[in-house]
Amino acid sequence: DASDIEKGTYPHYMLKEIDEQPYVIRRIVEQYFEDGQIKMDQKIVDAVQSADRLYIIAAGTSMHAGFVGKQLFEQLAGIPTEVHISSEFVYNTPVISKNPLFIFISQSGETADSRAVLVKIKQLGYPSLTITNVPGSTLSREADHTLLLHAGPEIAVASTKAYTAQVAVQAVLAAKVAGKSDLDLSRELAIVANVMESITDHKEQYEEIAKEYLTQRNCFYIGRHVDYYVALEAALKLKEISYIQTEGFAAGELKHGTIALIEKGTPVIAIISQEAVNLNTRSNVKEVKARGANTVIISLRSLSSETDQIVIDDVHPLLTPLVTVVPTQLISYYAALQRDFDIDKPRNLAKSVTVE
Ligand code: G6P
Repeated sequence: DASDIEKGTYPHYMLKEIDEQPYVIRRIVEQYFEDGQIKMDQKIVDAVQSADRLYIIAAGTSMHAGFVGKQLFEQLAGIPTEVHISSEFVYNTPVISKNPLFIFISQSGETADSRAVLVKIKQLGYPSLTITNVPGSTLSREADHTLLLHAGPEIAVASTKAYTAQVAVQAVLAAKVAGKSDLDLSRELAIVANVMESITDHKEQYEEIAKEYLTQRNCFYIGRHVDYYVALEAALKLKEISYIQTEGFAAGELKHGTIALIEKGTPVIAIISQEAVNLNTRSNVKEVKARGANTVIISLRSLSSETDQIVIDDVHPLLTPLVTVVPTQLISYYAALQRDFDIDKPRNLAKSVTVE
């Protein structure tokens, strides 16, 4: 509806779209659940169930959502899953399994790099599913199946609500394919929506962190396990709109080279949402702190320590990217705002890239 594409009282689409995320999650629950059960085209469920391996193809933020999807398909449904950068797949084509399913994740459904892969795998006779925000988009029309994100139009070039919608829809698909399980996904997603809201209700905190910590021309996000995937997305978001040179790193890998870049005042933001990695990531934070870094920890409440700057209420361990990403979106927004950059239309970037 028309109100979706108005900025209203918001200074930027990006901030509006960050705030819309709890509603988008609730809308996904409305669209994909009936009486607590997942409703989905059986042909899509069959296509995933009969695959011996999933190949997720995407670019940019959508690829980062695909990494989280890999985790979901493997953990919930037990299907081996690979994630590929669409612009590389055409040349660096992996050995393809006997019964693959190709899943294209694309907010716009128009990314030329991803379409080139779709054209190629169709020639090879493989089945395909597109997960997109835009009904009738090229990738939707040309793939065998489509799942919609129901995120509403995303106008800001830097993607926020489409990312969380992509993660949520992949969770729904993975849970449906898994069949009966202990996971009550509609309930868990309702909790996610509430936790997102508690984050977006306290924006001052993120404005202050951006002001206090993001004072240098570079920054690192670190995390292990699924937090590493969120670190990649957080770093991309900060680069895109604040032009701060940011890297997302697997926290344990930092010491194998990149730690050489840490100097006095380098901001390092750690994400901790998984119990299994809590202590190890914290020891990586200590290592960089000892070398002068200004560290920030984003943690889940049950894993938090008193000095953590950002503490988020707990959600289901498989769904943590849906909430840990939100503070990083807000930090990026305020870092760009403080620099007076064109937040919704950053330099050199386009909302969708239709050339290879
Ligand atoms: C462009 C946008 C990114 C986006 C990527 C993939 O580079 O600037 O924000 O993640 O394309 O777009 P898609 O529409 O395929 O998700």
